[in-house]
Amino acid sequence: MQAAARAHANIALIKYWGKRDSALNLPATGSISVTLEALHSETRVRFDPNLVTDAIMLESGGDAERVSRFLDLVRALAGMEMRADVRSRNNFPTGAGLASSASGFAALALAASRAAGIEASPSELSALARQGSGSAARSLYGGFVEMQRGRDDRTGADAHAVPLLAAHEWPLAVVVAIIDTGTKSVGSTDGMTRTAATSPFHDAWVAGADADLAAMRTAIRDRNLERVGELTEHSCLKMHATMLGAQPGLIYWQPATLAAWQTLADLRADGLAAYGTIDAGPQVKALCRIADADAVTAALAQVPGVRDVRISHLGPDASLIADPW
Ligand code: PMV
Repeated sequence: MQAAARAHANIALIKYWGKRDSALNLPATGSISVTLEALHSETRVRFDPNLVTDAIMLESGGDAERVSRFLDLVRALAGMEMRADVRSRNNFPTGAGLASSASGFAALALAASRAAGIEASPSELSALARQGSGSAARSLYGGFVEMQRGRDDRTGADAHAVPLLAAHEWPLAVVVAIIDTGTKSVGSTDGMTRTAATSPFHDAWVAGADADLAAMRTAIRDRNLERVGELTEHSCLKMHATMLGAQPGLIYWQPATLAAWQTLADLRADGLAAYGTIDAGPQVKALCRIADADAVTAALAQVPGVRDVRISHLGPDASLIADPW
């Protein structure tokens, strides 16, 4: 009745921004991400017949109510009512556009389903994690990962991630420039809802997704960093353009975000291949070759407003671990 798991954060190269169903949390489009070795969540779940409510301790912050609602899904799958004791921590800031909900719900899906005695395939676990947070479906796998939009609107069973390449098949680095670790003012679900309801660019965003995904699959298969980088920056800027077009407009950037973005363009002008992406927060993440990661780090660390810079290699699948507490 107890299990613990570790899952790594991921950063989307082709972004997910918009749901086609909020009850099942079905994405309007597919997405493609890389999993980050350096950023992880560890979660322990113990179902306990003596508890009358869930006892949830999120050491790095987060929404206990949302965790409890996710446990309801696991209880329904397992056909039981028992409440759970949950303990979780991240080795990085929570809720600041560093994908803490991705690693958090992936670790929770794995630990809770194992603790509840559910026999689930990796695809089933990924679809379960999706119901906690869309990006969490991708954190079940390491390396390069594609989230499939799926077609089954009744159960959502085919809206799960699939692995494209393992980390060792194309080792790259992601350099994360941390600009502000405060919790974002508009969470991703509210931001997506507002964008879909009010942005005139939303339909164009959805219409272009399949072509972006196909081009990215090819670029990853070819190990073509320049092409992967161009497509990554395009998807990121296009997603933020849809947000800017919402009413009221959603601006997750800060001045240092743009300065860091420009620094990457300057590095490329000097012949160094580094490409940026930004999620629903001010942080800039740069994809580059491992051999270039120190130079990218040094350049980003000089940008006024960048508080910290972390290098991550690509990370592994989510896994069960010994109780870390
Ligand atoms: O799954 P959520 O609710 O964490 O939303 C993820 C949204 C982005 O990070 C901006 C894009 C993505 O695909 O991860």
